[in-house]
Amino acid sequence: MAARKPKVLVTRKLPDPVETRMRELFDTELNLDDHPMTAGELAEAAGRADVLATTVTDEIDAAVIEAAGPTLKLIANFGAGVDHIDVAAASAKGITVTNTPGVLTEDTADVTMALILTTARRIVEGSTVVQAGGFSGWSPTWMMGRRVSGKRLGVVGMGRIGQALAKRAKAFGMQVHYHNRKPVPQAVADSLEATYWDSLDQMLARMDVISVNCPHTPGTFHLLSARRLKLLQPHAILVNTARGEIIDESALADLLARGAIGGAGLDVYENEPTINPKLLKLPNVVLLPHLGSATVEARTEMGEKVIINIKTFMDGHKPPDRVLPERL
Ligand code: 8YV
Repeated sequence: MAARKPKVLVTRKLPDPVETRMRELFDTELNLDDHPMTAGELAEAAGRADVLATTVTDEIDAAVIEAAGPTLKLIANFGAGVDHIDVAAASAKGITVTNTPGVLTEDTADVTMALILTTARRIVEGSTVVQAGGFSGWSPTWMMGRRVSGKRLGVVGMGRIGQALAKRAKAFGMQVHYHNRKPVPQAVADSLEATYWDSLDQMLARMDVISVNCPHTPGTFHLLSARRLKLLQPHAILVNTARGEIIDESALADLLARGAIGGAGLDVYENEPTINPKLLKLPNVVLLPHLGSATVEARTEMGEKVIINIKTFMDGHKPPDRVLPERL
């Protein structure tokens, strides 16, 4: 007799080829209207699934883990960041958590570089003026931005995405600096011509552009605190494609509103989808709707990774992208 297919509950609409393959392989329940699930719906799903395929919009907290039934053995997250999942609580209950690193690195680095360029060169502001019919002719001093080549980029978190950004920034003539829990291997630092800063404070005070590329963990919550943000130079630009919670968003909005820093390019926010209303009114910000990995290619490959993690786990092996609580 064929083994029972695992019951896989998918919390959001995934790319069609991913959903099709999941239906072939598993007893799959899809979220066809793509509504973000409530805490109650997530608890109900956890109570009867073998596998939950989650995304960043699902708050898998201790209460949801508590509600998990005896069959729930795997949370296969569609996404690299797992700060919305209580990994320690899951692990304590014998539930494995996996994610999808690697396949979204290049695309997220592209959006990060795009945010640096669009913020520094006022691309969105310029386009908005033109579309509103406000281009009355060239002027020597109109819409002047800031040059990026020759400038210092400080990368906060030199993991996969930080390194992919550094590669791009170097090609644009920027000098790469970084702060990380520990220095990257010498060969990596050499190829990026990157300078390590043990002190985040000192790095922040000396950069022209800062990019946040570390994961959100209890240790990085408000890493860019109000105190640290005040260290930035008045012309500095801050970009964030990691997680909003790493920056004190309210303090950042205040600094931007006072013109105390040059600008910000943000793809992520502290309380998504809510955005600090002050940010919405400022000219010196570029705001994107969390689309770092939003390419057909990345989202499809993320789905393929979810499938591989589920399949490997269900076949009795260690899935390739296990998230270990002690490494967070
Ligand atoms: C994803 C992300 O779109 O992978 C991540 O951590 O932030 C995004 O690129 C999102 O997490 C999907 O769940």
